[in-house]
Amino acid sequence: MNGAIIITGASAGFGAATAIRIARLGYPLVLTARRENELQMVGEKVRSVGGQVTCIAGDITDVATRQRVVDAAKAFGRIHALLNNAGFGQPGPVALVGEAEYRRQMEVNVYAPVEMIRLVAPIMRYQGAGRVVNVSSAAGRMTVPMMGWYCASKHALESLTEALRSEVRAFGIHVSLIEPGPVATEFASAATKAADTVGGDREAYKEHIEAFTATYTGDDPLRGRAHPDATVGVIVHALTARCPRFIYRTTALGKFALVAGWLLPRSWYERVIARVYGMPGRAKKS
Ligand SMILES: NC(=O)c1ccc[n+]([C@@H]2O[C@H](COP(=O)([O-])OP(=O)(O)OC[C@H]3O[C@@H](n4cnc5c(N)ncnc54)[C@H](OP(=O)(O)O)[C@@H]3O)[C@@H](O)[C@H]2O)c1
Repeated sequence: MNGAIIITGASAGFGAATAIRIARLGYPLVLTARRENELQMVGEKVRSVGGQVTCIAGDITDVATRQRVVDAAKAFGRIHALLNNAGFGQPGPVALVGEAEYRRQMEVNVYAPVEMIRLVAPIMRYQGAGRVVNVSSAAGRMTVPMMGWYCASKHALESLTEALRSEVRAFGIHVSLIEPGPVATEFASAATKAADTVGGDREAYKEHIEAFTATYTGDDPLRGRAHPDATVGVIVHALTARCPRFIYRTTALGKFALVAGWLLPRSWYERVIARVYGMPGRAKKS
């Protein structure tokens, strides 16, 4: 019998779609996210394709929730994999995002996945096998304006994942990173909601905030987000292939932006990014 796969952030987007694809492959699942109804609906879909599933509603930053998730996976006998997928983007100028918001960004996107790893790593070590797949982002390799805290969280996750990979290889644990570019999930609407939490001197950043809103909700090239299918296929591969790779870049736009960052002189690259994200130029002194 296959070991269980834990999927965090399974009520929507990549997590929900991955759960249904994985269920067809015969792995028992433990799914978690905050919205209970949405999570149970994903659970029902998993059961409808013959999958075994336990759904645990809760916030991934909550210690008791994380422990319940891992206990539920242990109840299936073995833990095959942990997919650290839950996450969100906290938008806003670096100098304006409040302390509670930037701490929350790090709690959800960095510390919670690390805590999940700390719970499953000893079990996987004992098994002599297991895998951890962390959903990062192209924003874990490059930085864009108005998403500084999100980019910082994904950079931190990437760095920790790279160290982890070398540290657990000897125990038979595979570690992979998924780096999507913009993909059409609920991510953009969650980010737009989070943007409302930004306080402080919004007037000074009016143009920046309008440009960000247009990028995320308006008629902008970045709205040309990729369909989630390709990324979900890659996540399934990382979770199930015999020898998964370390890094998977899943969208053309994400790959293109990274290559541009490596090839272009720094000043050109900055200008391109500022233009794409509609950042205003330098203000004239009055
Ligand atoms: N879509 C993109 O453009 C894109 C690009 C690069 C990377 N990513 C990354 O991909 C991952 C999945 O995002 P997605 O695109 O699938 O977005 P999504 O559709 O918004 O899904 C995010 C999932 O994370 C869960 N989640 C968020 N905060 C949580 C918390 N505090 N506790 C527990 N669960 C939480 C949400 O469930 P609840 O709201 O029910 O809790 C939801 O199931 C994220 O790590 C994101 O950073 C996305």
